[in-house]
Amino acid sequence: APPGAAGAPGLRFSAVAPNTTDAVVVPPGYLHEVVLRWGDPLFDDSPEFDPYHQTAEAQERQFGYNCDYLGLFRRRGNGNFLLVANHEYTNEELMFPGYDPENPTREQVEIAWAAHSLSVVALTAEGRGRRSGGLDPVVGHPLNRRFTMRSEFELSGPVAGDALVRTPDDPDGRTVLGTLNNCAGGLTPWGTWLTGEENFNQYFANAGTVTDPKAAERLRRYGVNKGPSGRKWERFDDRFDISVQPNEPNRFGWVCEIDPFDPESTPRKRTALGRFKHEGATISLTPDGRAAAYMGDDERFDYVYKFVSRDRYREGDHEHNATLLDNGTLYVARFTGDSPGEITGDGKLPADGEFDGSGEWLPLVTSADGEAHSHVPGMSGVEALVFARQAGDAVGATKMDRPEDVEPHPDTGRVYMALTNNTNRGLPGYAGPDEANPRRANKHGHVIELRESDDDAASTTFSWRILLVCGDPKDPSTYFAGYDKDQVSPISCPDNVTFDKYGNLWISTDGNQLGSNDGLFGVALEGPYRGQVKQFLTVPVGAETCGPWVTDDRVLVHVQHPGEADGSTFENPLSHWPDGGVPRPSCVVVWRADGRKIGTA
Ligand code: FEO
Ligand code: CA
Ligand code: CA
Ligand code: CA
Repeated sequence: APPGAAGAPGLRFSAVAPNTTDAVVVPPGYLHEVVLRWGDPLFDDSPEFDPYHQTAEAQERQFGYNCDYLGLFRRRGNGNFLLVANHEYTNEELMFPGYDPENPTREQVEIAWAAHSLSVVALTAEGRGRRSGGLDPVVGHPLNRRFTMRSEFELSGPVAGDALVRTPDDPDGRTVLGTLNNCAGGLTPWGTWLTGEENFNQYFANAGTVTDPKAAERLRRYGVNKGPSGRKWERFDDRFDISVQPNEPNRFGWVCEIDPFDPESTPRKRTALGRFKHEGATISLTPDGRAAAYMGDDERFDYVYKFVSRDRYREGDHEHNATLLDNGTLYVARFTGDSPGEITGDGKLPADGEFDGSGEWLPLVTSADGEAHSHVPGMSGVEALVFARQAGDAVGATKMDRPEDVEPHPDTGRVYMALTNNTNRGLPGYAGPDEANPRRANKHGHVIELRESDDDAASTTFSWRILLVCGDPKDPSTYFAGYDKDQVSPISCPDNVTFDKYGNLWISTDGNQLGSNDGLFGVALEGPYRGQVKQFLTVPVGAETCGPWVTDDRVLVHVQHPGEADGSTFENPLSHWPDGGVPRPSCVVVWRADGRKIGTA
């Protein structure tokens, strides 16, 4: 039986049992509804959604596809919120009737360009009953905004203007059209939004035409297609064709910073934070007021990074705070275990009873006033930013099991890292298990808790321990911070993380390998319930749970790619959520039917 209502404050709900229902399933006593769906109108002139007659022009004025990160700003005025949303990618086979992946049409490709990138949407709770947590989009609100592959993004920091980012379309190397594969993100203390460009490599074609061995190796390290790309965009815009515009991929793979409160502002790609498959970026302030950004590179055997700003955050000084992420030092993490003897890889706890140890933040590049000073032998500062993965290789960073969200706890400053999985760990030809990645063929992932020395986010050393080794609790290789395994929900493939006001960690999953749908889980970090994982909701068939945003009276998630599965098509999708027709990625809000606080008795 799933865990009952007993639990830490904020987690006192009866856990949802694993299931394969084509619906959002929430605990007894909770209600939910869809806030926004793919194609919903955002502006007064937005056409109604019609998947049989979709156009790029319509899509530019509607909520995009595959919503991933979700951030919610509370605004002045009762019940007003500003939602920021990533649209990570498109599922053409579920978007277009009769889609032929070998021969996409120009219209389909242009719709995909418009369905990617970002949305900003005002939401309101007005007009709802006192007990309702329901939220409605405010169509035509002056802050509503869509970013697409036609929107201008400015390169900022030391890489801006460098030869590595100049292209025939942008000979100055300063203005990029669009942002791609925006996965997770974070809100900053100065009121902006950070979003990570993740698997940008998949959009570019013909890396195989590059003959210079150094350039070819760089493209290989980032996984850029040797031949045609999956979506064939290169047929419709040669900036996606490396044989024509070889530097265009160098203009993606960054963290973007957006000011959602200024609808005229141009978003910036912050090059001082390095280029890799950025999951997201989340900020902690150091005791002396500098900004530390924690970041993961979501690839098997890739790294965890941190950027620490040179300057201090100044409350209310918008202009100054907008320069924080251009000046500072980028580090990569090395984890060292403290247990004697070998890590077996079968989940057996080491001799000292815990997977734990110490670590170092190894400096890669210090950026200052447009200059990049390298700490990596054989690489210039700009090279170490653009090819941060290779900089990490050179200094001996620890190869991790796909670092997804990396977020500092808002009260304790401890950093929680979701390592989603790595089925190649320990296989012939790959790195073996180590104390920070202790499971061979790690199918279900794990979560690490990191504590900076002196609890200072600027420290260059830290200690760490594993909080969770995920999976079915009956599997002896799982670990729930020592909590009773009969009293926890099964969890697999942790991806996004957030915190509630009680200090609990919430984890959403992507790609559950236990045969049931993905979901959202809460886990206590302190007190007698530490390690008690409880499932709060599940998402429909084929969907991934994204975004999570937890306040004391609402939980919001993004339901990404419902119906995504082998053989699932527009005509015969494996999910019909949320309307019974074609599946639509959507934002969902959950609240308590009695109007009381989430997870309280
Ligand atoms: Fe887009 Fe790493 O998940
Ligand atoms: Ca140990
Ligand atoms: Ca993710
Ligand atoms: Ca993921």
